[in-house]
This record gives sequence, C-alpha cells and structure tokens, in this order.
Amino acid sequence: MTDLRSNLYDELKKYSKTDAYPFHMPGHKRNTELLGVSLPFDIDITEIDGFDDLHASCGILKNSSDKARKVFHSEHSYMLINGSTCGILSAIRTVTNYGDNIIIARNCHKSVYNGCLLNNLEINFIFPPQDESSGVCGSVSPESVLEAIKGSPDSKAVVITSPTYEGVISDIRSISRITHSYGIPLIVDNAHGAHQRFFGLMDGEPVECGADIVISSLHKTLPSLTQTAVAHINGDIIDHRRFEKELAIFETSSPSYILMASIDKCLDFLKNDCDLFEKYKLRLQKFSESINKLKYLKVLCHGSDSISNHNFYSFDPGKIVICTSGTSISGVELSDILRKKYNMELEMAYPFYAVAMTSVCDTDDGFQRLSNALIDIDKSLSHSEINIPVLPFPKPKKSGLGIIEANDKTLPLGSEKISRDYIFAYPPGIPIVIPGEFLDDETVSYIETLKASGIKVIE
Ligand SMILES: Cc1ncc(COP(=O)(O)O)c(C=O)c1O
Repeated sequence: MTDLRSNLYDELKKYSKTDAYPFHMPGHKRNTELLGVSLPFDIDITEIDGFDDLHASCGILKNSSDKARKVFHSEHSYMLINGSTCGILSAIRTVTNYGDNIIIARNCHKSVYNGCLLNNLEINFIFPPQDESSGVCGSVSPESVLEAIKGSPDSKAVVITSPTYEGVISDIRSISRITHSYGIPLIVDNAHGAHQRFFGLMDGEPVECGADIVISSLHKTLPSLTQTAVAHINGDIIDHRRFEKELAIFETSSPSYILMASIDKCLDFLKNDCDLFEKYKLRLQKFSESINKLKYLKVLCHGSDSISNHNFYSFDPGKIVICTSGTSISGVELSDILRKKYNMELEMAYPFYAVAMTSVCDTDDGFQRLSNALIDIDKSLSHSEINIPVLPFPKPKKSGLGIIEANDKTLPLGSEKISRDYIFAYPPGIPIVIPGEFLDDETVSYIETLKASGIKVIE
C-alpha cells in the first residue's frame, strides 16, 4: 500500500538512531565517531531490510516514485540518481534497436549523442533556427519535425531539448501530435525544466503536452542534490518495462540513499511549498524592471527585451541570458568580471552571451547583487568601439560514415578531414561536430574562435 506521506529522509534518520549494526556496505559503517559528521555517513545505507530496492521497488522507494508520479502528473515516474544522463541513455535504448534511424535536434546534449552511439543509430537532424540578435538556438518548430519525419519516416523516435540550456521552450503539444500521427514516440530532454509545472510554464510542459518520455534533472532548477533527476513515461507507445530494464543497465546497482532522500525531500517541497514559486516569479519581475535601463548589455526576454523580439515558442524567465554582442566584451569576459570584481559565478559563458541560472531558492539579495553589477558594468561599456558579433553555428556535412565506423580509431579514414570523435564546448556539452562529419573550414574556424575566447573545447 502506497503511503505518500512517508519521508525517506526521516526514516533514514530514525534508522540511524537505532542499535542496528551494519554488517553490510558502505564501508564507512556509519561510524561517525571515527569519521565525524561533516558528511552524512549516518544516513548512507544500502538496500537493507525495510529500505526497498530501487531497481525492483515495492516499499519505501516505490512510495517516492509514486509521489513523483502524483507531483508531476505522470503515468510512470522513476527516480534517477545518475542524473538525466542515465534516463536519456535508457530512453534512447528503449525505443531503438542497433542500426535504427532516429531524428534529433542538433542542439541536443552529448548524452543524447552517446545514446545514439551505443546503438549505432543513423541520425537525421533538425536544425533549430539561431536567434539573430542573441545567437542562442531557437525553438524546434512543429513544421521542422514534420519535415524531418517525412524525410525519414522509419525513424524510431524524435528527441528534442526543451527548455534548452538558455531557457528556450518548444511547442511540445503540436510536436507530439505530429510524431504520434506517424506512430513515433517523442522523447523530451527536460533536464532544464523540472520546475516548469510549478513555475506555471504549462505551455510546453512536456508531461502535460503529450511527450512519451520526459527526463528532468531535479538538481538543475529545483532544491535537490547534484545527480538527482526523474524520468516520466506517458501514453501507450512506450513499453515502460523495457525502460526499467535499460535503467538497470545505465544506473548504478548501489543507488545512494542520500541522493534518493534528496529526491524525496524535493518532491515534498513541490507538494507543499508551491507558493514559493510565486515569490520567485516576483523576484524575477523585479529583477527585470531593475535592468530596464541597460544601454549595451541585453538580457534575453528581460528588461527592455521581450519574447516578441524573438521567434521562441516560449521562454523560461528563470534563465538570465546576458547578451554581449554589440559591445566590446565577450560573454566570457563578462563572466570573468562578474567573478573577479563582484564575486559571482555564472553557469556558463560563450563568446557572445553568458548564462546565470536562477531558482526558487535564490534570494532578493542575490538578484539585487546581479542587477547592480550588470548596471555597473554596462556603464563602463559606454565607449565601446570593438563589436564582438554573434557567431553562426556551423553545419558540417555528413561523410557517409556511421558514427561507430568513424569512431573506430583502427580504421583509416583516408586523406579527407573527417571527425573521428565528438567535439563540443563544455558547458553546454552540445556537439559542434560528430563522428563521421567533415571538419570543413567553417567548423574548424568556429572551434578556433571558441578556443580563442577561452571556452573549454573537448575533442
Ligand atoms: C540539455 C541537457 N540535457 C541533459 C543533461 C545531463 O543532465 P545530468 O547532468 O543531470 O546528467 C544536461 C547537463 O548539463 C543538459 O544541459
């Protein structure tokens, strides 16, 4: 019998106070006398009697996934403690067999590409348009999905990211209608959108809008520890038992109770503290008003900018994307100034923008510090002469080699410049080129420009 009032953390705490002696993993044996209490050794247990088994849950951990199902309004929900990454790998393996075709948005995270690599999938891309003024990737349009499916009707799935790292949301309802009319499942990488429902961003909220598999990182936008995430399955297309089998492959067989307790606590927070999201919205509104007068820096869909200036379906105002194009500093330089002079660390920086991530846990003071710093920096930009422009994304051509074939370092590739590996900037972890694509001049120059601006490029 499911008890949604149960709380994993409280049960672990209660258990830690008992006299039960741990002749089991983990090796620290909850010995806080020896190890101290600065790390939570006292509640770090393994799957002992009474504490269920994540991969075959029927007790306290099932309560937590049932809680997730209720809170997120899904049909099946799963706690993930290897991040969204393990949910994305499992999702792709659930819907494809080795060598199948798949349609993915080009701006997908590397975990999607790694899922494709595992099953040697033939990838057909949707290229979301690049927003002219900011340079960020725009929404994936339903028309582009339809076109991609018509070009590759035997594709086994469509995978898109919504919201993106920069907060751009796609029209999931229309997209899922299209994929379903062809019997194709829609997987939404919602790693940056776990808060969507609670923030009231229901237009494009993927569980609500018909996506078949949705994967959301709790740790990115909600109060939960790093590596925690959830996956949801809805509708009749997906065999949820196959998904569970894949999860058992990609997720550790020793799931951390600390991480699971964090997920459970986060679910309780979402169940009980929804009014905090109203306060968060007000803080963002106030922030937006306070930066109205920026002259050189622009903050995407905030301040004097609005969504009507962009071709986005919707936008998550929780993402503060500070655009530097048209000024004399790059996003990387802006991020350096904020770090060194104002003691603020941003989430990521690119040549022409930088991203500050916010959440329901940010404070009035935090927002005030950011707006004061931006206003201050903006004043110092008033005599800019050099203009750092938006960089167009390269679109490297396919060589005809499959990703596994190109990735096989023992095979000769001939004299042509074909990439053997993924090359990506981290963050955001979106590949610039994938194995088997030509390293043309445009792509090489894009990579060089990123490196010259101080961006970490992983090759
Ligand atoms: C769009 C996107 N998808 C998936 C992931 C992977 O999420 P996780 O770090 O929770 O494994 C990330 C991580 O940054 C991401 O940005």
